Amino acid sequence: MSTLYEEFGGEAFFADLVSAFYAQVAVDPILRPMYPESDLKAAATRLQWFLEQYWGGPTTYQENRGHPRLRMRHAEFHINIQAHDAWLDAMRTAVDSLEMKSELKDQLWSYLEMAAAAMVNQPD
Ligand code: HEM
Repeated sequence: MSTLYEEFGGEAFFADLVSAFYAQVAVDPILRPMYPESDLKAAATRLQWFLEQYWGGPTTYQENRGHPRLRMRHAEFHINIQAHDAWLDAMRTAVDSLEMKSELKDQLWSYLEMAAAAMVNQPD
């Protein structure tokens, strides 16, 4: 049985997704200031590792970063509804730039919406 990681297209798919996402982050007035100034590449690598692991691919994230504890790791960032919407908009553009079966897209998108909602840690 193949994993969803493989069905999406493996490493190449997640590399493309994250690269398209960070191209949006780089020009987003809300998101850009929240990310490391010079090193968006390192942040991109962490997100790629995480997503690959989440969808059943290699466990490189765990090996390098330990348990994800994503809500805790985001606590230092001010994530209100505007930041949440900006993150999801950037992700939507990235998802829509790639080819995938519509069932896979729906599954990916439901997860991203759920995860983004869980990361909100500030009222408006
Ligand atoms: C809701 C809006 C969100 C905002 C504004 C946000 C912002 C950030 C920022 C500023 C970082 C630090 C960049 C770095 O140096 O790694 C980060 C890290 C990270 N984010 Fe988010 N994020 C959001 C949602 C999400 C969601 C939904 C996921 C997962 C699906 C996610 C996964 C990650 C991961 C894996 C890291 C790296 C954690 C680590 O190992 O240090 N983020 N995020």
